[in-house]
Amino acid sequence: MFRYLPERASDFAHEVDWVNNIITDISVFFTVAIVGAMIYFAVKYRKKGAVDHETPQILGSHTLEVLWTVVPTLICIYIAYWGTAIYNKMVDVPKGAHEINVWGEQWLWRFEYANGKKTVNEFYTPVDEPVRLIINSKDVLHSFFIPSMRVKKDAVPGQYTSLWFRPIKTGTYQAYCTEYCGTQHSAMLAKVHVVSKEEYSRWLNDRSAEEKLARMSPAELGEKLFNENGCTQCHSIDGSRKVGPSMLNLFGKEEELVGGKKVKVDEAYLQKAILNPNAEVVLGYAPVMPPFEEKLTSEQVGQLIAYIKTVKGEAAVVPAAASAEDLAKLSPADRGKKLYEQKACVGCHSLDGSKVVGPSFKGLYGRSGKLQNGATYTADDAYIKSSILAPASQVVEGYPPAMPAYEGQLNDDEIASIIEFIKTLK
Ligand code: CUA
Repeated sequence: MFRYLPERASDFAHEVDWVNNIITDISVFFTVAIVGAMIYFAVKYRKKGAVDHETPQILGSHTLEVLWTVVPTLICIYIAYWGTAIYNKMVDVPKGAHEINVWGEQWLWRFEYANGKKTVNEFYTPVDEPVRLIINSKDVLHSFFIPSMRVKKDAVPGQYTSLWFRPIKTGTYQAYCTEYCGTQHSAMLAKVHVVSKEEYSRWLNDRSAEEKLARMSPAELGEKLFNENGCTQCHSIDGSRKVGPSMLNLFGKEEELVGGKKVKVDEAYLQKAILNPNAEVVLGYAPVMPPFEEKLTSEQVGQLIAYIKTVKGEAAVVPAAASAEDLAKLSPADRGKKLYEQKACVGCHSLDGSKVVGPSFKGLYGRSGKLQNGATYTADDAYIKSSILAPASQVVEGYPPAMPAYEGQLNDDEIASIIEFIKTLK
């Protein structure tokens, strides 16, 4: 009864399940017996025909008292014995277990093998051989959980923990982070590949990915970094305008900064702009870029700069901004749509419900929810208007306070058009 446990893929999975099932069965048996007796007696001895019956005097029974003390005690000892015996097995690492270092960090798992091979969000291990995972965390508390192996261990910053298991069949199994660790906690997953010994040693000694990486030029590595660090969300490479300046022909260009100062885009400027972007913001852009000071090494910054130098060429054809006259002819909702595209709202707010930097506009009108400061909001005309003009004062829970204020950049008419446009996105 009640056998809902996942696939068993390690040698102690059977034993863990056995104890777990026995506890479940005993619990279900006693729950049914006790609640059943309760219901039965309640019905049988209910007050009938408005007549009070005198309760008979019953004296205690020593046989029953002994029975219902001794039997549950024996059951508890039995469960504790097997629980302890199996737990001891789970913490007693066999000699010669393969060791893999595991680091949890917001929000991914890194694995490193003794020969230096590294992987992210997946690892390989040979079938029928014990493997020991040595677990640590780079930031907050995580927990590494492989349900099919029946193992789970916390990843604690500044402290090593470990677990081991012996996979009994090949296949790919899911591992989870099972300690709430921030917004992307549910995406913090990893794959466990259990393969044959031959395949494992082939995989472990195949260093072609690293060799390929080692042969890459700084500019190629920079391109990889550019794509992997989310830069593409805000910076185009084809000259089109997004939240931040395009990288196209950027190197060597002269830019005007907020405050009127002019700078030439060279290595020194780019380094500053990456590490501490809001110190010098290019005119016409909002100071919304997160600093990369602690996220990139100086070598990586150099690679990014090398890449940016290579982004040259003709600008993609960008649709010309509609003239004021054309805009006046459109319906308010269409005018709002044009403004949505021209004022760079498009960089951070999707129209299809997906989460980019800010909340999606789809279904926004009339939505209500919580703000970062604990207050609640309902997205009516007044709320949307003040969110456009002074967004920092009412940031929706779960989003960064990244939106620039549009105070002075949009008039009442334009804001009304944008609200009309939002209303059409159901
Ligand atoms: Cu890491 Cu949840």
